[in-house]
Amino acid sequence: MNNFEFCNPVKVVFGKETISRLPFLIPEGSRVLMLYGGGSIKKNGIYEQVTAALKAYTLLEFSGIEANPHYETCMQAVELVKKEKVDFLLAVGGGSVIDATKFIASAVYFEGDPWDILAKGAPIKKVMPLGAVLTLAATGSEMNERAVISRVSLQKKLNFSSPLVFPRFAVMDPEVTYSLPAHQVANGVVDSFIHVIEQYLTYPVNAQVQDLFAESLMKVIVSEGLKVLDNPRDYDIRANLMWAATNALNGWIGQGVPQDWSSHRIGYALTAQFGLDHAETLVVILPGVMRYLQKEKQEKILRMGAVVFGITEGSVQERLEKSIEATEGFFRNMGLKTRLSEYGIKESDLDKLVEPITQMGWKLGEHANIDARVAREILSLRL
Ligand code: NZQ
Ligand code: ZN
Repeated sequence: MNNFEFCNPVKVVFGKETISRLPFLIPEGSRVLMLYGGGSIKKNGIYEQVTAALKAYTLLEFSGIEANPHYETCMQAVELVKKEKVDFLLAVGGGSVIDATKFIASAVYFEGDPWDILAKGAPIKKVMPLGAVLTLAATGSEMNERAVISRVSLQKKLNFSSPLVFPRFAVMDPEVTYSLPAHQVANGVVDSFIHVIEQYLTYPVNAQVQDLFAESLMKVIVSEGLKVLDNPRDYDIRANLMWAATNALNGWIGQGVPQDWSSHRIGYALTAQFGLDHAETLVVILPGVMRYLQKEKQEKILRMGAVVFGITEGSVQERLEKSIEATEGFFRNMGLKTRLSEYGIKESDLDKLVEPITQMGWKLGEHANIDARVAREILSLRL
């Protein structure tokens, strides 16, 4: 196991009717800005629950945060925060709203051009406190220190991380996810599954706690994920999926192990240039990463195939192939497309898709050997 230092300070408040706990989580007398997306919270009762819980506070609102949140929209919120002297940010939504709130919390006090936080990894020295009411189980953003923001005018999607942007708390009521459209549920299931994969499917370092924890999460996500579309109002399924998604990316399973975030990073351009949902990008790319790097990842692919998909018969090559097919099969069973051509993306689009990798100088993968050329090869396996 590799060395690590780890601290996750997020207080989790999990379960039915937990939104009513907000007054115990936000400092008394705060001027709270509630941030949310395109309005789903007004249709499913979440808005009423939050405003009722916070009636003793000065509560302002900022709505319209897009899926794959826009830098431009975040900067409008920054203006409002300054003008209204807000002192606490409450994100009510999925990963997009929480990520946007993390960026807004950082941009408010940033000296210089806030775009540098994303484009240059400029250090963040001070942020406004933030909390999250989670409405979609997927990203783990409610309990981590990362965010991903898109700048529409530049067709760029970039991430940043800072220990200062951990939410103060995450309120997680699985019942609020009942209203999600099936496609978003599927997105959440596969996104969380692939978060585990990106921290697991590298090479073994005898990190037994992390490996077994990761395998448990994958088993739960696959078994409950396959049930949830037919049982959207089953509390136990929702609760298990929600807690699994949080644990998939709250830092625990990634400590002391090599990681490979190549599917995520290569996927940013598919969202920025072709508008695919975050999870849609991942299910297209991951089988290509597995196939192209199967020798390097062999031990872990075989182990995952056996534990998660029960693949134990056949030669090494046969088991590798079956494990990659089972992974893609799971994504298709969740109702997702797994090929670029299904989105109308062609060979002639690949050069532009890998341009950001060159521009940012990324060397991806656990061996830092995935550059733009290799990424292009991986994508060409997925046409
Ligand atoms: O905007 P509204 O109207 O609220 O609708 C949203 C949105 O259209 C809807 N929704 C959310 N909760 C709902 C609901 N609809 C009905 N009932 C509910 N309870 O779902 C749609 C998608 O929401 P979004 O927040 O975009 O989804 P998700 O949580 O998948 O977040 C995706 C974003 O997170 C980033 C992605 O890149 C993408 O921008 N990620 C963030 C990470 C992190 N911070 O650690 C890691 C991830 O890998 C990911 O990159
Ligand atoms: Zn993701």
